[in-house]
Amino acid sequence: MVGKEEANTEGQQQIHPSFLRTMEQKNGITSKLAGIKHKIGIYSAKGGVGKTTVAVNLAYTLNDMGYRVGLLDADVDTPNVNLFLGINSVGNAEYPLKPIDKDGVKVISTAMFLDDQKKPIIWRGPIVGKMIYEFLGETAWGELDYLIIDLPPGTSDAPLSIMQLLKMDGFILVTTPQRIAAVNAIRSGMMARRMGISVLGVIENMSGDRPRGAEEVAKEMDCRMLGAVRHDGRMSELSDKGLVPVKEDKEIGRTFTEIAKKIAEA
Ligand SMILES: Nc1ncnc2c1ncn2[C@@H]1O[C@H](COP(=O)(O)OP(=O)(O)OP(=O)(O)O)[C@@H](O)[C@H]1O
Ligand SMILES: [Mg+2]
Repeated sequence: MVGKEEANTEGQQQIHPSFLRTMEQKNGITSKLAGIKHKIGIYSAKGGVGKTTVAVNLAYTLNDMGYRVGLLDADVDTPNVNLFLGINSVGNAEYPLKPIDKDGVKVISTAMFLDDQKKPIIWRGPIVGKMIYEFLGETAWGELDYLIIDLPPGTSDAPLSIMQLLKMDGFILVTTPQRIAAVNAIRSGMMARRMGISVLGVIENMSGDRPRGAEEVAKEMDCRMLGAVRHDGRMSELSDKGLVPVKEDKEIGRTFTEIAKKIAEA
């Protein structure tokens, strides 16, 4: 078990080799990513709440504010960032991996290494962890102000690998107004804290007139409410076309600017 200490024959405590290996990998990644000032994960255990939407629009907003931004699609087996950005090009799989520059944002995703976007990626946990490790440790990000990481739903391999391998500023939780989403966001926040990762705040997506789910998350997790993004058909229409809503729509742009300002001033 990771992190388990064992007693050797002389009664001394020995650190389990797998824990040592993870720590070595983490130290290696930390030094390779020394040129990145802030690393922020966008997370919720619940699927479909808008993690990718928030990650993409936040990355573009921060870039528009003058920051140097990278966007890592950590949803390695169901990558969506490419679709949201209309990226069709296939990347070069040589090391170090090179992110694609899209409108000034540096993007990397498993989808860039597939010739057919509809092909299923069927990987077991260890391969998912290895892919995350390569994206973190083998990508030539260069100097960045922000690396925004779009996490997959759930609390298993991919989120766990990120939490174990990456020293990050913390997670931004995404919820919708529904209680089930809020409860799952709280679950995600608790998992993050247990792994020693901070919760930077919560965003309510697909929000109505008054945020509901995010209020519960903010209270329960004792974290900041970063903003609410309204439920808006333009959001999915634009994303479906590979267009970025904050670039196309002033009102959506303003909402994300307010959120990004809160993140940047923290
Ligand atoms: N504020 C919004 N208003 C309307 N539609 C939205 C909004 N936010 C996201 N959507 C749409 O909801 C769908 C799910 O969003 P998205 O893919 O960002 O969620 P996700 O949490 O990343 O999902 P997954 O858990 O599968 O990764 C998409 O079609 C997206 O365009
Ligand atoms: Mg997603």
